[in-house]
Amino acid sequence: MTFSPAVEARLAKLVQNYPPGRLKGALIPMLMYIQDQTGHISKEVAEEVSQRLGVSTLEVDEVVGFYTMLRARPMGKYHLQICTNISCLLTGGEELWEHACHKLGIGHNEVLADGQISLEEVECIGACSWAPAIQVNFDFHHNVTKEKLDAIIESLRKPQ
Ligand code: FES
Repeated sequence: MTFSPAVEARLAKLVQNYPPGRLKGALIPMLMYIQDQTGHISKEVAEEVSQRLGVSTLEVDEVVGFYTMLRARPMGKYHLQICTNISCLLTGGEELWEHACHKLGIGHNEVLADGQISLEEVECIGACSWAPAIQVNFDFHHNVTKEKLDAIIESLRKPQ
């Protein structure tokens, strides 16, 4: 299995940072780089990573199952994560979460039928100073209001 030239270049550079006996340390970043292209970590991807790093597929599965930023099944083209942890909770994060669920008609870890947007309620995403915060793929949005959230969702619905 091969990935895009850009991903293959990142993977080649990544493994150079680890001595031969310590390739296992590259597991999480390798999965993140690949998921950036594939959208999730399929069984086929898990087997490929297992071979490349000399770890078992069970170890890959354990890592994918533990870290919520890694996904074993496909999500939307745009993965909308809404933080409801303490700073965001105190500044309207829970209302944003309920608003998004109602507006999109989907719940936690669900995907719109057209595959465009998925939704996830998450713990702290490290943007507490700008709460309430949300994340769309790798983009952060700070001090989010219902109006801002509506505008973000509308922009994600447009074909790009
Ligand atoms: S609690 Fe929401 S970003 Fe930290």
